[in-house]
Order: sequence, then C-alpha cells, then structure tokens
Amino acid sequence: MALKIAVAGKGGAGKTTLAGGLALYFSKHHDVIAVDSDPSMNLHSALGMENPRPITELKELIEERAVVAPGIFNINPKVDDIPETHSSSRENLKLLVMGTVKKGGEGCMCPENTFLSALLRHLVLRRDEVLILDTEAGVEHFGRKTAEGFDVMLILCEPSVKAIDTANRVYTLSKEIGIKRAYAVPNKIATDEQLELVKNKLDFEVLYPIPYDEEVVKADMLGVPLADRLPSPTALKSIEDIGKFVEKI
Ligand SMILES: Nc1ncnc2c1ncn2[C@@H]1O[C@H](COP(=O)(O)OP(=O)(O)OP(=O)(O)O)[C@@H](O)[C@H]1O
Ligand SMILES: [Mg+2]
Repeated sequence: MALKIAVAGKGGAGKTTLAGGLALYFSKHHDVIAVDSDPSMNLHSALGMENPRPITELKELIEERAVVAPGIFNINPKVDDIPETHSSSRENLKLLVMGTVKKGGEGCMCPENTFLSALLRHLVLRRDEVLILDTEAGVEHFGRKTAEGFDVMLILCEPSVKAIDTANRVYTLSKEIGIKRAYAVPNKIATDEQLELVKNKLDFEVLYPIPYDEEVVKADMLGVPLADRLPSPTALKSIEDIGKFVEKI
C-alpha cells in the first residue's frame, strides 16, 4: 500500500509519539518506512529500534553521487538503494534517519541537502509502501513534487495559543507548497475546555484528539514504544483511530 504521511507541528507537540505510533500500527499489515528528519533523531525509541547511521554522515557516498565538480551538484543522484542499504529494520518496518545538515549560508546548496531532497522525493514518489515522516517543525524544505506526493499531513497541536498559532501557520504553508490534505490532531487534551479551545481556534479540519496520557510520559521516560505499555494506553487508541481514518483516504 502506497500511503505517504507527514507529521508536523510545534516543538514538543507530539510528532514523534504520533509518527512512532502510526508506524507500528501500519506495520501490522503493511510494509512501512519511518523516516526521521528531526535533528534530535529520537523516532527510533518510539519504535523500539536502533538508529541506523544518519544519511548526512555518509560523506563519501554523497560526495561520489551528488558532486559532479567542485560546487556543481547532480540534483538527481542515485538514491534508490539507500532504503535497503542504510535503514535499520524489523520485520516489515524500516527506519531511515536523515541526520543534520550544517547551515552554510543562505539556502544551503550543499551536496547533503541535494542528496536528502532526492532521497525524500524518491521515497515519496517512487516507493510502494507506507511512508511516515517525522519532521522538524518546518516543511519549507520540501520541493513542490515531493509535497504534492504526500497524501496527508497531520499537524499536531497542544492546547495552547502558541501551538495553535504554529499549527495554523504550518497549515497555510502546507497549502502553499502543494500538500493536498492537512488535518489538525489535538494532543495532550485533558479537559473538554481544552478541546473546545483548539477546535475554535484552528483554521482547518480537526481529527480525533489524543488525550493527555501519563503512559506516554512513562514510555518516553523508559525509551520504549507506547504500544509496549500494558494495558493498552488510551492515547494509543486515538492514534490507531487516526491510522484507520488516514487509511481510508
Ligand atoms: N498524549 C500525550 N500525553 C502526555 N504526554 C505526551 C503526549 N504526547 C506527547 N507527550 C509528551 O510530550 C513530550 C513531547 O512529545 P514528542 O517527543 O512526541 O513531541 P515532538 O513534537 O516529537 O517533540 P520534538 O519537537 O522535540 O521532536 C514527550 O515528553 C512526550 O512524552
Ligand atoms: Mg520529535
């Protein structure tokens, strides 16, 4: 099943929790590739996996494939082998870690960025599996083609004015770059009042809320997947409902 999901939102809003939960949910029945493009690289713990070597650390390979001559880059380097050769995997779930690119002046046209863009484009447009991308807050770095290739973007939102503002901004941006569908996912919701606040102030469609759940905090403390906590956490139930909704898109 080819289904491409991007998870976005303000720092700490719950992106990694949702991305990890969805990856485990979909991997019960489908091939899944979870892609960590956050510099803190902690999606692996939500999946109970080891981190593979981050792609940006493959200096020689990137140099060889993406640099034609000093300062001249091949914008279509070979990347189709990378999901197999540089991911960690468990059964039908793969984890790919993008790594960090040092910002070198405006726009940063560096071989690492060229390579990462080509890889993401390949994952989104050419592979037939469920892709779940855990992004850093911004989505500006998506090329138009890549953005259009996503089926859905899920924008996490905590019940705070700041998080709501960020979610609305990310939504606007997602439309500008060509993401077809974006939904808000309220997270850490403890009261009806919080849910009302989020629903009233978000400018776009709101999906199932994820409740505030102490089990998420505990799973994070221990560095284990939420799905490993028993009895099944209530937050996980909401994440699975979101998975079921997205599956029908
Ligand atoms: N539903 C929830 N209930 C309680 N705590 C939660 C919930 N969702 C997330 N948290 C907690 O909030 C913190 C941030 O969650 P998470 O790491 O998923 O967010 P993030 O958006 O990926 O953060 P970052 O921007 O740092 O990558 C964690 O400590 C996590 O345990
Ligand atoms: Mg995160």
